[in-house]
Amino acid sequence: MSLRFAVLISGRGSNMLALEHATRDGRIDGRIVSVVSDRADAPGLAAAQTLGLETSVLEPAGGEDRGSFGKRLADRIREHGAELVALAGFMRILPGGFVREWQGRLLNIHPSLLPAFRGLHTHRRVLEAGERVHGCSVHFVVEELDAGPTVIQGRLSLRPGDDENSLSARVQRLEHIIYPRAVGWFASGRLAWRDGVALLDGRDSGSVIVEEDS
Ligand code: GRF
Repeated sequence: MSLRFAVLISGRGSNMLALEHATRDGRIDGRIVSVVSDRADAPGLAAAQTLGLETSVLEPAGGEDRGSFGKRLADRIREHGAELVALAGFMRILPGGFVREWQGRLLNIHPSLLPAFRGLHTHRRVLEAGERVHGCSVHFVVEELDAGPTVIQGRLSLRPGDDENSLSARVQRLEHIIYPRAVGWFASGRLAWRDGVALLDGRDSGSVIVEEDS
């Protein structure tokens, strides 16, 4: 059965587009039923509309607390019958109520090799720390930020002369490979959450790794 999923964005939406392409070429047995942005000016919104996707903007009202915004967001997603929510550059911390409701059906993509470099500005911090490898991770979302079980990672080796821009571009290319793969697994029933563990084909996924040059 084809998976109905929602994608939440705040910006460019290149991961949302990668997911959409994967539904079109059959890598994901499913379709995006709703693209929701918390910013009316997110470039990804226009791109989604061009592709004919259902889009909406949901901005927190002045003074609205996170819990109330989260409830409205969950209502919006449920309206479209989504069975999975994919966060794709959604720059808002979701409230506990939302995360608990969608637990096991809520994925995120993060630009680092988790558990290293949770949070923001990962490329800069990787460079400052003198790391030799970097990458990105798809993980199930739990209440603690960027702490949920990892499903798949993309990994690259730093090159002389790498800067934030080059790392961002290289990491994004990997993101566009691994996110559709993770959602495709979920859609086909191969990926599931059980008691806080990401199971792929019934076993702890232990984080599958895609190397940049593979
Ligand atoms: C990605 O780098 C993702 O890892 C992070 O936000 C960025 C979103 O990029 N969570 P895009 O909007 O999908 O192009």
